[in-house]
Amino acid sequence: MAPPGEFDMSRRDVVASATAAAALSTLPAGARADAASGDRPVLARVWFTINGQRRELELDTRTSLLDAAREHLHLTGSKKGCDHGQCGACTMIVDGRRINACLTLAVMHQGAEITTIEGLGQPDNLHPMQAAFVRHDGYQCGYCTPGQICSGVAVLDEIRAGIPSHV
Ligand code: FES
Repeated sequence: MAPPGEFDMSRRDVVASATAAAALSTLPAGARADAASGDRPVLARVWFTINGQRRELELDTRTSLLDAAREHLHLTGSKKGCDHGQCGACTMIVDGRRINACLTLAVMHQGAEITTIEGLGQPDNLHPMQAAFVRHDGYQCGYCTPGQICSGVAVLDEIRAGIPSHV
């Protein structure tokens, strides 16, 4: 523990502060003052396209993308494992990139194209990555499988784009 008066901030504190600052910068000035006061939730409208459907929500600006999908849109395929960016169970593909949806605020994705496991395939028409997981018994316990599949799909796109993810 740092002595009184010394600066003591963890990596998680830095990430949380930066995320909050980024979210605040997207709000109108009045809403920013309310948010800064911490007195009550600040609501904001956000829209994005998720699994091919345009969806608009009014959300507490602190709502993660994962909670927006699971709690507000009832897309429960993406799982909440650690809620700290460590397990990948919540992985979604946002504008072509895989991200941990528990670590990002929904309001930061205005206008984004989002794909969750529900958008990749259906039971009678599996995405090739889903079919490969079935064929090779890749589920393990199954809880984080949706995140693994989304990550697998995106990593192949990264390799095609010349990003050395496989290294
Ligand atoms: Fe574990 Fe998001 S829930 S990384």
